[in-house]
Amino acid sequence: MSTDKKVLLDVKDLKVHFSIASKSAWPFSKPSKLKAVDGVDIRLFEGETLGVVGESGCGKSTFARAIIGLVEATDGEVVWLGQDVTKMRDVQRRETRKDMQMIFQDPLASLNPRMTIGDIIAEPLKTFYPELSKTEVKDRVKEMMAKVGLLPNVINRYPHEFSGGQCQRIGIARALILNPKMIICDEPVSALDVSIQAQVVNLLKEIQQELGLSLVFIAHDLSVVKHISDRVLVMYLGNAVEMGEAEELFADPKHPYTRALMSAVPIPDPKIERGKQIEMLEGDLPSPINPPSGCVFRTRCPQATAECAQQRPTIKGTDVHSVSCLHVEV
Ligand SMILES: Nc1ncnc2c1ncn2[C@@H]1O[C@H](COP(=O)(O)OP(=O)(O)O)[C@@H](O)[C@H]1O
Ligand code: SF4
Ligand SMILES: [Mg+2]
Repeated sequence: MSTDKKVLLDVKDLKVHFSIASKSAWPFSKPSKLKAVDGVDIRLFEGETLGVVGESGCGKSTFARAIIGLVEATDGEVVWLGQDVTKMRDVQRRETRKDMQMIFQDPLASLNPRMTIGDIIAEPLKTFYPELSKTEVKDRVKEMMAKVGLLPNVINRYPHEFSGGQCQRIGIARALILNPKMIICDEPVSALDVSIQAQVVNLLKEIQQELGLSLVFIAHDLSVVKHISDRVLVMYLGNAVEMGEAEELFADPKHPYTRALMSAVPIPDPKIERGKQIEMLEGDLPSPINPPSGCVFRTRCPQATAECAQQRPTIKGTDVHSVSCLHVEV
């Protein structure tokens, strides 16, 4: 990744802590803090695709929602084209939201069942540009439908009449209609049949290339992000543990957590597959209410030392490859 590319989004030390009602019998006991995102930095360049991976519960969705403004950041900055969104006034924030769209995991649940797909796709356009005529809106909707591979004659149908893959195409058309600069795709294919997943990933990739969009592509396993990402961020328990150019990260994963995630990805060559060192992830993800001291991965890390319980590693390296581990150099 050449550094002369324009930085679209610069997220600095982003934290999202939720207050959880205490289970204690004392009526005045303090609520606990659930650290869903606990200090993540990313830079997203114009036109690039950033994959975000990590087990379920690692904070991927919360991270995405905080960038878009669907949940409030507890701390940190979300700098969009040089301006901190978290400090913007409502009017300016609303304007910025036009440029940032999101696609969700469950395609059917994210579409209003009582609206026709034409109205669903048109909704953001009508909200932001109420002055547009009906014909102008309809033309734009049809243009978006064509772009995602939907025939114009289905415009008056309802979401339940479509398959999961088609519903996700509707979601993509809706996300595209305001001509955004970035789309965050939160596990957009996890709920789809494997045979349909590649079609949707390829569609997103084609659109991204044609329009020069930036994509943040979230998935819980690495095999899905492998083919679409320029760079990949690996999250664990609300922290960024490794980030790097996709090719470099897949060829030379450095963090013990990334290595464990990668060993779960099947390698097509049976000779390599048989000889592969399996670094299994043992145990469950610890609770983000009471995360381990020092390095949050230490309770499951095969390389953990006494020092790992004392000291919290910071991320070191560059945009090309960075790692957060006391015992790994980049
Ligand atoms: N609104 C919320 N209130 C309290 N806890 C939440 C809320 N949203 C998410 N969490 C918790 O934050 C953690 C991260 O969740 P999430 O961001 O959904 O992870 P992922 O998308 O990686 O599966 C989980 O422990 C989840 O239970
Ligand atoms: S800091 Fe320690 S526990 Fe954490 S990943 Fe590195 S070796 Fe493992
Ligand atoms: Mg999620």
